[in-house]
Amino acid sequence: MLSRPRRNRQSAAIRTLVRETELLPGHLVQPIFLQPEPDARLPIESLPGTFRLGIEEVVREVGDCIALGIRSFIMFPAVPEALKDKRGTYATSKDNFYLHAATRLKKEYPEICLISDVALDPYSSDGHDGVIKNGKVDNDDTLPLLEAMSVAQARAGFDVIGPSDMMDGRVEGIRRALDNAGFTDTAIMSYSVKYASAFYGPFRDALDSAPRLLEDVPTDKKTYQMDPANRREALREAALDAAEGADYLMVKPAINYLDIIRDLHQAHSLPIAAYHVSGECAMLLAAAERGWLDYEAAATEALLSIKRAGADVIITYFAKDYASWWKSGRI
Ligand code: PBG
Repeated sequence: MLSRPRRNRQSAAIRTLVRETELLPGHLVQPIFLQPEPDARLPIESLPGTFRLGIEEVVREVGDCIALGIRSFIMFPAVPEALKDKRGTYATSKDNFYLHAATRLKKEYPEICLISDVALDPYSSDGHDGVIKNGKVDNDDTLPLLEAMSVAQARAGFDVIGPSDMMDGRVEGIRRALDNAGFTDTAIMSYSVKYASAFYGPFRDALDSAPRLLEDVPTDKKTYQMDPANRREALREAALDAAEGADYLMVKPAINYLDIIRDLHQAHSLPIAAYHVSGECAMLLAAAERGWLDYEAAATEALLSIKRAGADVIITYFAKDYASWWKSGRI
């Protein structure tokens, strides 16, 4: 045999020498679920190890993550039912605990990159990302609300605005609104290619944000989130967002959509983000709980595969754990 690939796998030193992909804690984004009560720490049953935290707990948690090398965070609000309505008006309220928390966090840790969530669903009594009109999610009626939400978030101190709603034209609308309000340096991480996935379950549990069973209201998000069967359509969505001024293009979920991550990586020069979503993490955690998988090894492999596919940025509930394994020198 003239060629023996095993020669390059003989020792840990050689394997490190020829390793093609490296995933650093600095590439990861830690999600945070924010609860209004300042000292809250509530477990999420379908996502073991992740909590809904009040701002005081968030400040502590972010400090711990920074010490491990995580520098970016994406925050989502768990809004009490009484504050929800059909147009999500609490999203831009002066009293909004999510906006106040962002200001506080950036004051405590000015060095972090703090990413927001723009969509109506955490605030909507219908559980949809847009406004329901005549039994439909109305695109153009939703855009001004998303724009106002984005400006309020930029004003509160978020560094990056994260539209997760999948309305058409929202990146351009948000870019113009931010610029008009003077926030020309606030970036947009667009959920460009977000599929109507079955893997968002634990997230919707955490925020109690699933579409509601009401007359006239659709119970799924298939009229705005993408069909998991489609690949070329992902390129169309990404091209629109790039043209509309997005600073990052996101694919979501990640593990079931590695081909899409690769497609976007090849077609675009913007950074590609991948959202390793709640259900993808929960499956692995559940198997590990039963002793069927080794959590550290399986999670590391999953994250590495997302990076290898072409993601520059990975949002994952495993961020903090990965960073601690990295720090220990084991991976
Ligand atoms: C909604 C939103 C969702 C997630 C992030 N933003 C859920 C949905 O579209 O219903 C899911 C993230 C996860 O599952 O981890 N705007």
